[in-house]
Amino acid sequence: MEFGTRTIHSGQPSEPNTGAMVAPIFQTTTYQQIGPGEHRGFDYTRTSNPTRQRLEAVLTNLEGGTRCAVFGSGLAAENAILQAHLKPGDTIVVPVDVYGGTFRLLHQVFEPMGAVVRRVDFSDLAALERAVDTKPKIVWLESPTNPRLLVYDIEAVARVAHRAGAIVVVDNTFATPYFQQPLSLGADLVIQSVTKYLAGHLDVIQGAVIAREPGVFEPVGFLQNALGGVPSPFDCWLTLRGVKTLELRMERHAQNAAAIADALLQHPRVRRVYYPGLSDHPGHEVARRQMSGFGGMVSFELEGTVEDASAFVSSLTYFALGESLGGVRSLVCLPCKMTHASIPAETRAELGLSDTLIRLSPGIEHPKDLVGDLTAKLDALVSVPDLAATR
Ligand SMILES: Cc1ncc(COP(=O)(O)O)c(C=O)c1O
Repeated sequence: MEFGTRTIHSGQPSEPNTGAMVAPIFQTTTYQQIGPGEHRGFDYTRTSNPTRQRLEAVLTNLEGGTRCAVFGSGLAAENAILQAHLKPGDTIVVPVDVYGGTFRLLHQVFEPMGAVVRRVDFSDLAALERAVDTKPKIVWLESPTNPRLLVYDIEAVARVAHRAGAIVVVDNTFATPYFQQPLSLGADLVIQSVTKYLAGHLDVIQGAVIAREPGVFEPVGFLQNALGGVPSPFDCWLTLRGVKTLELRMERHAQNAAAIADALLQHPRVRRVYYPGLSDHPGHEVARRQMSGFGGMVSFELEGTVEDASAFVSSLTYFALGESLGGVRSLVCLPCKMTHASIPAETRAELGLSDTLIRLSPGIEHPKDLVGDLTAKLDALVSVPDLAATR
């Protein structure tokens, strides 16, 4: 079955009692038992729910895994993995470029509890080899990364990590299973901020963990119930609805992103464009190999000051200034003041995360409108020579 067919058919048969083609929202906390301890597979919704089960089945299928647990947010999913596989004294190796919330979770929650967090440039495999000498329990990466869209070679990283006995976790939020399947490249666990492209309509906060093998999944599945960070049946239903159009949406997101990257490259107020589809992107060749498309996100550095960047992101018509990404409506974000504000300024500078770096999440509007909006507002900024003359 091809991907687009699986988004609609996988794990989603018509409901047996009524023939309803759309999964009902089983909006119940508890289930009537046949006798004490004897039930039909469900006893309490924190533990299991039929709507959630359908969603877990389709996400398992799309990522090519064996098991899935969904959570009330992407960070709740990350927390479950870390609680399951990282004990006090254990080491986790992460790249320099990770989502700000992951950075905060690692440094402000798990480090104080005794975990050791090592940050390495994953594009330097020799440096990674040296880092795994410390026998980490987890090697964790995003690819493409948030917000600079760096691309790491998942297969090569997994090889190095596995030789050292670590499990490999890949945050596949930006690529989605439509463009990349990390489990087939050697990852043990995939995390998704379902909030983004999978749900796709800016109306659900949700996360998922999908596993290649049941063994590595088991402690995470246990914590789904034991920690209790589960999503509501209604949110699961919304994601089931959203995921059915994932292929169509991702095609349009990627088409829009490519058109925007090309237009930005031509503009004198743009210092640098980050998009894995550009042939001069350092991860372009790896992206061509491990992804079936370059994704829907584009970032760029504006020529100017943080004030210029703030003014620009606030001036756009079709790109709403907002924290999320991956929705049908276009969004823009200034990471240094928004998603990555929790990372200290000096660390952001070390990571190459400039104060004029702007992240775009093109929606599925028409590319002409999106490109037109960006170029008109860039044109409206004072030109760089004019700006220099006034200082
Ligand atoms: C790459 C990535 N991973 C994880 C998360 C966390 O997901 P959530 O916001 O659903 O908790 C985000 C949120 O922006 C993200 O961008």
